[in-house]
Amino acid sequence: MTRKHMLVLGMMSGTSADGIDVALARISGAPPNLNAKLLGHTSVKFPVALRKEILRVAEQHPITAGALSQLNFCLGELFANAALVACRKFRVSPRRISLIGSHGQTIFHQGEPANFLGRPTASTLQIGEPATIAARTGITTIGDFRPADIALGGQGAPLVPYVDYLLYRHKKFGRVSLNLGGIANITVLPRAAEPQQVLAFDTGPANMLVDALVSHFTHGRLRFDKNASLASRGRILPALLDDLLRDAYLRIAPPKSTGREYYGHVYLKKLFIVGRRYRAKPNDLIRAATIFTALSVVDALNRFVTPKTKIHQLIVSGGGAHNPLILAQLSAALPGIEVLPSSRLGIPEDAKEAFAFALLAYETFHQRPSNLPSATGARGPVILGKISYAPPR
Ligand SMILES: Nc1ncnc2c1ncn2[C@@H]1O[C@H](COP(=O)(O)OP(=O)(O)O)[C@@H](O)[C@H]1O
Ligand SMILES: [Mg+2]
Repeated sequence: MTRKHMLVLGMMSGTSADGIDVALARISGAPPNLNAKLLGHTSVKFPVALRKEILRVAEQHPITAGALSQLNFCLGELFANAALVACRKFRVSPRRISLIGSHGQTIFHQGEPANFLGRPTASTLQIGEPATIAARTGITTIGDFRPADIALGGQGAPLVPYVDYLLYRHKKFGRVSLNLGGIANITVLPRAAEPQQVLAFDTGPANMLVDALVSHFTHGRLRFDKNASLASRGRILPALLDDLLRDAYLRIAPPKSTGREYYGHVYLKKLFIVGRRYRAKPNDLIRAATIFTALSVVDALNRFVTPKTKIHQLIVSGGGAHNPLILAQLSAALPGIEVLPSSRLGIPEDAKEAFAFALLAYETFHQRPSNLPSATGARGPVILGKISYAPPR
C-alpha cells in the first residue's frame, strides 16, 4: 500500500541562536496541490556555553578547523536530541516519521561573491551534522539546503519564499509575509502571483539589535526584551531614529541579504556612538532599536514594494511577532495594510520557519526544486539539500 501522506519534522535555528525550533507536519500531494498541516511545534534551548560559542563563531571570531568540526558534530547531537524531545512531546514514535528537514545553524553567509585569494567566491555554512541526526533518530535527514542555490549563482537565501508562495498566495489579496527572526525578511506575493513574480529579501535587522542591547545593558541577565517592557520605558528620540534610518543597507536594491556580519557587534558599536550623540539612556536606545526594526521594514515596503504592487495584508511570524511595540509601529506606519500575526492564518509565529523546512525537505525528497530564482537570483530552479539516509533497521 502506498502511503498518502508523510510525517515530516522541520528543524531550524536562526541567527538569534536562541535554540532549535521543531515543527511536525503532515504533508501530501504536490504543488500546486500540496497539502501541509502543522501537527505540533516546540522549541529546545541551547546550553548557555554553546550559544555563546555559536554567537562568537558567527561573528567571525577565530576558530580552528578542529574546533569547527567538533562544533558541527556536537550541534548535530543537539539537533538529533531536539527531534527526539519533540517526538516525545507530540507522542509520535520516531519510527512513524519519514523525514527530517534540518536547516542547521548558519555560522557564515556570503551570498554575493567576494574576493577570496583573488577569486570571486560566494559561500554559506550551516552546521549541525545531518548524518548525526539521521543516525541518532533513525530518520532520513535532509540538510544543507543553501549551497545548491549558491552553486547556481544565487544568494542561497531566502529559501522560505517558496513555502510562502505555497501557503499564502491569494487570488484577491496582495500579501507580504514578514519573518522577524534575528534578521527581518519579507516575501512579496502580488495578487494571484506567478512564481517568477515573487520578490523576497532581507529588509534589515529584526531582534538581533534589541537582543544585543538588552544582553549588554543587563550584563547577560536578560537575553531579550520580553513584550517590549524595557523599550516601553524608554523615551522616543526622533533625531536618533532619523540617524539610524540613514543606514546604508536600507538603500541597496533587492535582491539582498544580510546577517550578523553587518548587524552584529560592529553595528552595535555604531549604535553606542549614535546613542551617546543623542544622550540616550539604555532604555531609550532599546526603544530606538525596536522602532528602527519596524521602520526598516516599512522603509523597504515603501521604497521597493508598494510603488509597484498593491498590498492588502502583512503576515508576521518569528519571535519578533511577539513584540507589541514592533507590531503597533508596523500597523501605525502602514495605513491601508492589515497587519496579522501568522497564527491568524493557522501557523503559530514560532513554528513558521521550522514548518517551512519540513516542506522544503518534502520537496527535495520528491526531487522537486524549491528555490525561487526570482528571490535568490539563481540562474534557475534547483533541488535543494543533501540527504543523509537513516541506517537500515
Ligand atoms: N514575548 C516576546 N517579546 C519580545 N520579543 C520576543 C518575545 N518572544 C520572542 N522574542 C524575540 O524573538 C527572538 C527569537 O526569534 P526567532 O524567530 O527564534 O529568531 P531566529 O529565527 O533568529 O532564531 C528572541 O531573541 C526575542 O528577541
Ligand atoms: Mg530562534
